[in-house]
Amino acid sequence: MAESLRDLFRSLPVFPEQLSRFDASAAPDDPVTLFVQWLREAIDEKVPAPHSMTVSTTDADGRPASRVLICKDVDETGSWHFASSATSAKGRQLAANPNAALTFYWPQVGRQIRIRGAAAPIGAAAGAADFLARPVGSRAEALIGRQSEILDDPADLDDAFEQAQARITADPGLIAPAWTLYAVTAQEVEFWQADHDRRHTRLQYQRTGPAWSRRRLWP
Ligand SMILES: Cc1cc2nc3c(=O)[nH]c(=O)nc-3n(C[C@H](O)[C@H](O)[C@H](O)COP(=O)(O)O)c2cc1C
Repeated sequence: MAESLRDLFRSLPVFPEQLSRFDASAAPDDPVTLFVQWLREAIDEKVPAPHSMTVSTTDADGRPASRVLICKDVDETGSWHFASSATSAKGRQLAANPNAALTFYWPQVGRQIRIRGAAAPIGAAAGAADFLARPVGSRAEALIGRQSEILDDPADLDDAFEQAQARITADPGLIAPAWTLYAVTAQEVEFWQADHDRRHTRLQYQRTGPAWSRRRLWP
């Protein structure tokens, strides 16, 4: 069983036959411009949910935890935004240690983008605006405010969901107090382009004061 699973894994292709090209020597001076270029190319190539990213944090004992979140925005200062509940596991972890890593993987173009930096809440007004822009079901789920707690009985979720929806219907401007928009201010952004000969191209940007420096990495 273990053997055949290993064979199955080994037989699976990793990259498509046609891969995107990346000329690192012609890359822009800042990683946000390149991120937006790559994002648009991922959208053109029909990469599903290209705005989803793995967000990694650590708990108080330094144990890492990762989960997928939606990227809400990227600003010109080099911050990547996501939204979640400050009382969730990730919210508590970020309060204790703001250092985070974000990973985008776009298989259809053989590209990975890795970002490291500190996460901080953007502010109550931005969190409220993000909350109100969410669909009713998403708002109801956030209003329940128990993300990552133990659910003893799934019927409790149905009840809580119904109550939260009723509260939103009665007061459409209602905002979940713990809903938070975070910005991860990148210190390091790496662009990774797959190559069939395994001569992958890696370009890493590092923040140096107000500007960015760039260097190539061995694959
Ligand atoms: C595609 C996708 C998008 C998601 N987007 C979000 C999001 O934007 N915010 C969020 O809090 N959870 C989102 N989740 C759920 C998280 O992955 C995670 O289950 C949840 O936030 C609890 O994480 P935690 O226990 O580490 O706090 C998403 C999951 C998937 C698969």
